[in-house]
Amino acid sequence: MELLRHIVVFIHLTGFAVLFGAWAVEAFGGRRRFTSLMTIGMTIAAVAGLALAAPWGIEYDLNYVKLGVKLGVLLVIGALLGIGTGRQRKTGAVPPAMFWSVGVLTLLNAGIAVIWR
Ligand code: HEM
Repeated sequence: MELLRHIVVFIHLTGFAVLFGAWAVEAFGGRRRFTSLMTIGMTIAAVAGLALAAPWGIEYDLNYVKLGVKLGVLLVIGALLGIGTGRQRKTGAVPPAMFWSVGVLTLLNAGIAVIWR
């Protein structure tokens, strides 16, 4: 069970890496568009994160306040990606505030995961 949980954490981190990596490519490449890879990474992180939010394969209590905050942040990221992708289709561009918020909120969730115990 413990090994399985570690594998799910690994999948969760892969989702985070895909989401943030895809965003960073756009941010530093100067195109600043939302791509389907961002949504794929977010979905992987979300599914694995929800699986980890249940207390299995561990001998300590989970911090449900922290998990609730992470879930809220993830839902905002999902809404931004959804609305921003729609705008991009219509107008050809994502509003800059939406684009930068996705990167900042993704890092915020990683920071919450690692720093808030
Ligand atoms: C974009 C969204 C997310 C990002 C970037 C993210 C990032 C991370 C990172 C970097 C870790 C590793 C921390 C460590 O092991 O010290 C982690 C662990 C974890 N995340 Fe997330 N996360 C996200 C969404 C979620 C969601 C929505 C949930 C569930 C509500 C969740 C639940 C967990 C749990 C339970 C762990 C701990 C795994 C363990 O040690 O057993 N995450 N997350």
